Amino acid sequence: MTDSDQKKKIVITGDRPTGPLHLGHYVGSLQNRVEMQDLYECFVMIADTQALSDHFENPELVARCVREVFKDYIAVGISPEKSTIFIQSKIPELFELTSYYMNLVTVARLERNPTVKSEIQQKGFNESVPAGFLCYPVSQAADITAFKATLVPVGEDQLPLLEITNEIVRRFNRTYDTDVLLEAKAVLGKVDRLVGIDGKAKASKSMNNAIFLSDSQEVIKEKIFSMYTDPNHIRASDPGKIEGNVVFEYLNAFFEDEAELKSMKKRYEQGGLGDVVLKSLLNETLQKLLNPIREKRESIEESEIMERLEEGTNRAREIARRTMEQVRNAMSISYWTP
Ligand code: TRP
Repeated sequence: MTDSDQKKKIVITGDRPTGPLHLGHYVGSLQNRVEMQDLYECFVMIADTQALSDHFENPELVARCVREVFKDYIAVGISPEKSTIFIQSKIPELFELTSYYMNLVTVARLERNPTVKSEIQQKGFNESVPAGFLCYPVSQAADITAFKATLVPVGEDQLPLLEITNEIVRRFNRTYDTDVLLEAKAVLGKVDRLVGIDGKAKASKSMNNAIFLSDSQEVIKEKIFSMYTDPNHIRASDPGKIEGNVVFEYLNAFFEDEAELKSMKKRYEQGGLGDVVLKSLLNETLQKLLNPIREKRESIEESEIMERLEEGTNRAREIARRTMEQVRNAMSISYWTP
Protein backbone atom coordinates (compact mmCIF):
# COMPACT_ATOMS: atom_id res chain seq x y z
CA MET A 1 0.00 0.00 0.00
CA THR A 2 1.42 3.40 -0.93
CA ASP A 3 1.00 6.51 1.18
CA SER A 4 -1.71 7.89 -1.01
CA ASP A 5 -3.76 4.68 -0.70
CA GLN A 6 -3.69 4.94 3.02
CA LYS A 7 -6.89 6.55 4.14
CA LYS A 8 -6.24 9.66 6.14
CA LYS A 9 -8.13 10.20 9.37
CA ILE A 10 -10.83 12.82 9.12
CA VAL A 11 -10.91 15.87 11.34
CA ILE A 12 -13.75 18.34 11.81
CA THR A 13 -14.05 21.51 13.84
CA GLY A 14 -16.09 24.61 13.68
CA ASP A 15 -16.90 27.95 15.22
CA ARG A 16 -20.08 29.92 15.66
CA PRO A 17 -19.76 33.14 13.70
CA THR A 18 -20.96 35.56 16.36
CA GLY A 19 -17.81 37.68 16.60
CA PRO A 20 -14.18 37.63 15.62
CA LEU A 21 -12.00 34.86 17.11
CA HIS A 22 -9.75 35.48 20.10
CA LEU A 23 -6.69 34.10 21.90
CA GLY A 24 -8.81 31.49 23.69
CA HIS A 25 -9.72 30.00 20.32
CA TYR A 26 -6.10 30.22 19.28
CA VAL A 27 -4.67 28.11 22.11
CA GLY A 28 -7.80 25.99 22.44
CA SER A 29 -8.15 24.85 18.87
CA LEU A 30 -6.78 27.00 16.02
CA GLN A 31 -3.16 26.08 16.70
CA ASN A 32 -4.08 22.39 16.59
CA ARG A 33 -5.91 22.78 13.32
CA VAL A 34 -2.92 24.34 11.59
CA GLU A 35 -0.78 21.38 12.62
CA MET A 36 -3.43 18.80 11.80
CA GLN A 37 -4.10 20.02 8.26
CA ASP A 38 -0.74 18.60 7.17
CA LEU A 39 -1.50 15.19 8.62
CA TYR A 40 -5.21 14.61 8.16
CA GLU A 41 -8.16 15.38 5.95
CA CYS A 42 -9.52 18.49 7.66
CA PHE A 43 -12.97 20.07 7.53
CA VAL A 44 -13.49 23.47 9.15
CA MET A 45 -17.09 24.58 9.49
CA ILE A 46 -18.35 28.09 9.97
CA ALA A 47 -21.38 27.09 12.04
CA ASP A 48 -23.85 29.81 11.10
CA THR A 49 -26.92 27.62 11.67
CA GLN A 50 -25.72 26.96 15.19
CA ALA A 51 -24.96 30.65 15.70
CA LEU A 52 -28.56 31.43 14.78
CA SER A 53 -29.79 29.16 17.57
CA ASP A 54 -28.97 31.94 20.02
CA HIS A 55 -28.71 34.90 17.61
CA PHE A 56 -31.88 34.31 15.59
CA GLU A 57 -32.88 37.92 16.06
CA ASN A 58 -29.67 39.12 14.52
CA PRO A 59 -28.97 37.19 11.31
CA GLU A 60 -27.11 40.15 9.77
CA LEU A 61 -24.53 39.92 12.53
CA VAL A 62 -24.09 36.21 11.88
CA ALA A 63 -23.69 36.76 8.13
CA ARG A 64 -21.12 39.50 8.72
CA CYS A 65 -19.19 37.32 11.14
CA VAL A 66 -19.01 34.46 8.63
CA ARG A 67 -16.56 36.68 6.75
CA GLU A 68 -14.69 37.70 9.92
CA VAL A 69 -14.21 34.12 11.05
CA PHE A 70 -13.01 33.11 7.58
CA LYS A 71 -10.42 35.90 7.74
CA ASP A 72 -9.28 34.74 11.18
CA TYR A 73 -8.81 31.22 9.84
CA ILE A 74 -6.67 32.36 6.94
CA ALA A 75 -4.74 34.76 9.16
CA VAL A 76 -3.65 32.03 11.60
CA GLY A 77 -2.59 29.75 8.77
CA ILE A 78 -5.55 27.48 8.06
CA SER A 79 -5.19 27.08 4.33
CA PRO A 80 -8.13 26.60 1.96
CA GLU A 81 -5.85 24.39 -0.15
CA LYS A 82 -5.19 22.02 2.73
CA SER A 83 -8.43 22.29 4.71
CA THR A 84 -12.00 22.33 3.46
CA ILE A 85 -13.48 25.52 4.93
CA PHE A 86 -17.26 25.74 4.49
CA ILE A 87 -20.56 27.28 5.61
CA GLN A 88 -22.89 25.04 7.62
CA SER A 89 -26.23 26.42 6.41
CA LYS A 90 -25.31 25.80 2.77
CA ILE A 91 -25.28 22.03 3.29
CA PRO A 92 -28.94 20.90 3.35
CA GLU A 93 -27.89 17.30 4.09
CA LEU A 94 -26.99 18.43 7.60
CA PHE A 95 -30.57 19.49 8.27
CA GLU A 96 -31.90 16.16 7.07
CA LEU A 97 -29.46 14.23 9.20
CA THR A 98 -30.35 16.37 12.21
CA SER A 99 -34.03 15.46 11.77
CA TYR A 100 -33.34 11.75 11.90
CA TYR A 101 -31.06 12.15 14.91
CA MET A 102 -33.75 14.05 16.82
CA ASN A 103 -35.56 10.73 17.25
CA LEU A 104 -32.53 9.11 18.85
CA VAL A 105 -32.09 11.42 21.81
CA THR A 106 -34.45 12.35 24.63
CA VAL A 107 -35.38 15.85 25.74
CA ALA A 108 -34.24 14.92 29.25
CA ARG A 109 -30.80 13.98 27.89
CA LEU A 110 -30.48 17.33 26.12
CA GLU A 111 -31.56 19.21 29.23
CA ARG A 112 -28.89 17.44 31.27
CA ASN A 113 -26.03 18.59 29.03
CA PRO A 114 -23.79 20.74 31.28
CA THR A 115 -22.56 22.94 28.42
CA VAL A 116 -26.07 23.75 27.24
CA LYS A 117 -27.23 24.19 30.84
CA SER A 118 -24.62 26.83 31.60
CA GLU A 119 -25.25 28.57 28.27
CA ILE A 120 -28.97 28.73 29.06
CA GLN A 121 -28.14 30.40 32.35
CA GLN A 122 -25.61 32.76 30.85
CA LYS A 123 -27.99 33.85 28.09
CA GLY A 124 -30.85 34.27 30.52
CA PHE A 125 -33.23 31.95 28.63
CA ASN A 126 -34.60 30.67 31.96
CA GLU A 127 -37.91 28.89 31.35
CA SER A 128 -38.21 29.96 27.73
CA VAL A 129 -35.41 28.03 26.07
CA PRO A 130 -35.93 27.97 22.28
CA ALA A 131 -36.28 24.37 21.02
CA GLY A 132 -33.61 25.13 18.42
CA PHE A 133 -31.13 26.03 21.13
CA LEU A 134 -31.83 22.97 23.22
CA CYS A 135 -31.32 20.82 20.13
CA TYR A 136 -28.14 22.34 18.75
CA PRO A 137 -26.08 19.44 20.12
CA VAL A 138 -28.10 17.15 17.83
CA SER A 139 -27.23 19.31 14.86
CA GLN A 140 -23.60 19.25 15.97
CA ALA A 141 -23.76 15.44 15.97
CA ALA A 142 -24.87 15.71 12.34
CA ASP A 143 -21.96 18.08 11.58
CA ILE A 144 -19.44 15.63 12.92
CA THR A 145 -20.86 12.40 11.54
CA ALA A 146 -21.77 13.66 8.07
CA PHE A 147 -18.06 13.89 7.31
CA LYS A 148 -17.18 10.62 9.10
CA ALA A 149 -14.82 12.58 11.29
CA THR A 150 -13.11 10.71 14.11
CA LEU A 151 -11.02 13.58 15.48
CA VAL A 152 -12.50 16.85 16.73
CA PRO A 153 -10.11 19.58 17.95
CA VAL A 154 -12.19 21.63 20.39
CA GLY A 155 -12.07 23.28 23.79
CA GLU A 156 -12.93 21.37 26.94
CA ASP A 157 -16.44 22.87 27.05
CA GLN A 158 -17.31 20.82 23.97
CA LEU A 159 -16.72 17.41 25.60
CA PRO A 160 -20.36 16.94 26.70
CA LEU A 161 -21.44 17.63 23.11
CA LEU A 162 -19.13 14.97 21.82
CA GLU A 163 -20.57 12.54 24.33
CA ILE A 164 -24.06 13.14 22.95
CA THR A 165 -22.71 12.71 19.41
CA ASN A 166 -21.24 9.33 20.25
CA GLU A 167 -24.44 8.23 21.99
CA ILE A 168 -26.39 9.10 18.85
CA VAL A 169 -23.86 7.21 16.71
CA ARG A 170 -24.21 4.07 18.81
CA ARG A 171 -27.98 4.35 18.95
CA PHE A 172 -28.21 4.83 15.17
CA ASN A 173 -25.91 1.92 14.35
CA ARG A 174 -27.77 -0.35 16.78
CA THR A 175 -31.26 0.70 15.75
CA TYR A 176 -30.65 0.34 12.01
CA ASP A 177 -28.18 -2.53 12.35
CA THR A 178 -25.37 -0.81 10.48
CA ASP A 179 -21.86 0.54 10.93
CA VAL A 180 -22.05 3.60 8.68
CA LEU A 181 -21.59 6.10 11.51
CA LEU A 182 -18.29 6.53 13.32
CA GLU A 183 -17.62 7.62 16.88
CA ALA A 184 -15.36 10.63 17.33
CA LYS A 185 -12.74 11.73 19.83
CA ALA A 186 -11.94 15.24 21.06
CA VAL A 187 -8.44 16.62 20.59
CA LEU A 188 -7.91 19.19 23.33
CA GLY A 189 -5.72 22.26 22.84
CA LYS A 190 -2.53 23.29 24.58
CA VAL A 191 -4.58 25.33 27.04
CA ASP A 192 -8.12 24.14 27.58
CA ARG A 193 -9.61 27.22 29.05
CA LEU A 194 -7.92 30.57 28.74
CA VAL A 195 -9.06 32.96 31.49
CA GLY A 196 -10.65 36.25 30.52
CA ILE A 197 -8.60 39.45 30.91
CA ASP A 198 -10.93 40.28 33.82
CA GLY A 199 -9.97 37.07 35.62
CA LYS A 200 -13.35 35.44 34.92
CA ALA A 201 -13.30 31.73 34.18
CA LYS A 202 -13.16 31.95 30.42
CA ALA A 203 -12.24 34.42 27.72
CA SER A 204 -15.35 34.82 25.58
CA LYS A 205 -16.72 37.14 22.97
CA SER A 206 -20.08 37.43 24.74
CA MET A 207 -18.45 38.62 27.98
CA ASN A 208 -16.16 40.97 26.08
CA ASN A 209 -13.15 39.93 28.13
CA ALA A 210 -10.96 38.53 25.38
CA ILE A 211 -8.04 39.69 23.26
CA PHE A 212 -9.14 39.28 19.65
CA LEU A 213 -6.81 38.11 16.89
CA SER A 214 -7.80 41.25 15.00
CA ASP A 215 -7.21 43.75 17.86
CA SER A 216 -4.86 46.63 17.08
CA GLN A 217 -1.51 46.98 18.85
CA GLU A 218 -2.93 49.78 21.01
CA VAL A 219 -5.99 47.78 22.07
CA ILE A 220 -3.86 44.74 22.93
CA LYS A 221 -1.62 46.88 25.09
CA GLU A 222 -4.56 48.52 26.79
CA LYS A 223 -6.16 45.17 27.56
CA ILE A 224 -2.93 43.78 28.98
CA PHE A 225 -2.35 46.78 31.20
CA SER A 226 -5.90 46.49 32.53
CA MET A 227 -5.37 42.85 33.55
CA TYR A 228 -5.99 41.76 37.09
CA THR A 229 -2.83 40.71 38.97
CA ASP A 230 -2.61 40.46 42.75
CA PRO A 231 -4.39 43.32 44.55
CA ASN A 232 -1.93 43.07 47.47
CA HIS A 233 1.08 43.45 45.21
CA ILE A 234 1.31 47.21 45.37
CA ARG A 235 5.02 47.97 45.20
CA ALA A 236 7.46 45.97 43.10
CA SER A 237 9.20 44.89 46.29
CA ASP A 238 6.02 43.35 47.78
CA PRO A 239 5.70 39.58 47.52
CA GLY A 240 3.04 38.69 44.94
CA LYS A 241 0.72 35.80 44.24
CA ILE A 242 0.87 33.71 41.05
CA GLU A 243 -2.42 31.92 41.53
CA GLY A 244 -5.35 33.76 40.04
CA ASN A 245 -2.91 36.24 38.50
CA VAL A 246 -4.17 36.78 34.96
CA VAL A 247 -0.85 38.03 33.59
CA PHE A 248 0.85 34.80 34.65
CA GLU A 249 -1.99 32.74 33.21
CA TYR A 250 -1.36 34.36 29.84
CA LEU A 251 2.41 34.01 30.15
CA ASN A 252 1.87 30.30 30.89
CA ALA A 253 -0.04 30.00 27.64
CA PHE A 254 2.11 32.17 25.37
CA PHE A 255 5.63 32.75 26.77
CA GLU A 256 7.86 30.05 25.39
CA ASP A 257 10.93 30.20 27.61
CA GLU A 258 9.78 27.98 30.46
CA ALA A 259 12.95 28.27 32.54
CA GLU A 260 12.81 32.07 32.40
CA LEU A 261 9.13 32.04 33.34
CA LYS A 262 9.82 29.79 36.30
CA SER A 263 12.51 32.11 37.62
CA MET A 264 10.23 35.14 37.16
CA LYS A 265 7.51 33.43 39.17
CA LYS A 266 9.97 32.84 41.95
CA ARG A 267 11.07 36.46 41.95
CA TYR A 268 7.47 37.65 41.90
CA GLU A 269 6.57 35.50 44.90
CA GLN A 270 9.58 36.67 46.85
CA GLY A 271 9.06 40.32 45.96
CA GLY A 272 11.18 42.33 43.57
CA LEU A 273 9.31 42.01 40.29
CA GLY A 274 6.85 44.74 39.38
CA ASP A 275 3.57 44.36 37.52
CA VAL A 276 4.65 46.86 34.87
CA VAL A 277 7.69 44.81 33.93
CA LEU A 278 5.55 41.69 33.81
CA LYS A 279 2.86 43.28 31.71
CA SER A 280 5.44 44.73 29.34
CA LEU A 281 6.84 41.26 28.80
CA LEU A 282 3.39 39.87 28.05
CA ASN A 283 2.73 42.77 25.71
CA GLU A 284 5.94 42.07 23.81
CA THR A 285 5.11 38.35 23.63
CA LEU A 286 1.59 38.85 22.34
CA GLN A 287 2.49 41.60 19.88
CA LYS A 288 5.08 39.27 18.37
CA LEU A 289 2.47 36.55 17.98
CA LEU A 290 -0.35 38.76 16.71
CA ASN A 291 1.49 41.18 14.39
CA PRO A 292 1.92 38.70 11.54
CA ILE A 293 -1.62 37.37 12.07
CA ARG A 294 -3.06 40.90 11.80
CA GLU A 295 -0.97 41.64 8.70
CA LYS A 296 -2.12 38.46 6.99
CA ARG A 297 -5.71 39.26 7.93
CA GLU A 298 -5.48 42.72 6.40
CA SER A 299 -4.04 41.38 3.16
CA ILE A 300 -7.10 39.22 2.40
CA GLU A 301 -9.13 40.42 -0.59
CA GLU A 302 -12.78 40.92 0.39
CA SER A 303 -13.87 39.84 -3.08
CA GLU A 304 -12.21 36.44 -2.71
CA ILE A 305 -13.85 35.41 0.54
CA MET A 306 -17.15 34.09 -0.78
CA GLU A 307 -15.48 32.49 -3.79
CA ARG A 308 -13.23 30.49 -1.50
CA LEU A 309 -16.11 29.60 0.78
CA GLU A 310 -18.24 28.45 -2.12
CA GLU A 311 -15.47 26.14 -3.34
CA GLY A 312 -15.00 24.66 0.12
CA THR A 313 -18.74 24.28 0.65
CA ASN A 314 -19.16 22.42 -2.65
CA ARG A 315 -16.39 20.02 -1.69
CA ALA A 316 -17.88 19.46 1.76
CA ARG A 317 -21.36 18.97 0.39
CA GLU A 318 -20.22 16.16 -1.85
CA ILE A 319 -18.98 14.21 1.18
CA ALA A 320 -22.15 14.91 3.17
CA ARG A 321 -24.23 13.79 0.20
CA ARG A 322 -22.46 10.44 0.08
CA THR A 323 -22.91 9.86 3.80
CA MET A 324 -26.61 10.75 3.50
CA GLU A 325 -27.08 8.09 0.86
CA GLN A 326 -25.60 5.50 3.19
CA VAL A 327 -27.72 6.77 6.07
CA ARG A 328 -30.93 6.55 4.05
CA ASN A 329 -29.99 3.09 2.82
CA ALA A 330 -29.37 1.95 6.39
CA MET A 331 -32.79 3.32 7.36
CA SER A 332 -34.46 1.75 4.27
CA ILE A 333 -35.76 5.10 3.11
CA SER A 334 -33.81 5.44 -0.15
CA TYR A 335 -36.91 4.86 -2.34
CA TRP A 336 -34.99 5.35 -5.60
CA THR A 337 -31.42 5.86 -6.73
CA PRO A 338 -30.59 9.52 -7.19
N1 TRP B 1 -20.13 24.23 19.19
C1 TRP B 1 -18.92 24.72 18.59
C2 TRP B 1 -18.57 26.04 19.30
O1 TRP B 1 -19.41 26.66 19.90
C3 TRP B 1 -19.06 24.98 17.12
C4 TRP B 1 -19.32 23.77 16.27
C5 TRP B 1 -20.39 23.56 15.47
C6 TRP B 1 -18.49 22.61 16.12
N2 TRP B 1 -20.31 22.38 14.84
C7 TRP B 1 -19.17 21.77 15.21
C8 TRP B 1 -17.28 22.21 16.66
C9 TRP B 1 -18.65 20.52 14.85
C10 TRP B 1 -16.77 20.96 16.29
C11 TRP B 1 -17.45 20.13 15.40
O2 TRP B 1 -17.44 26.45 19.23
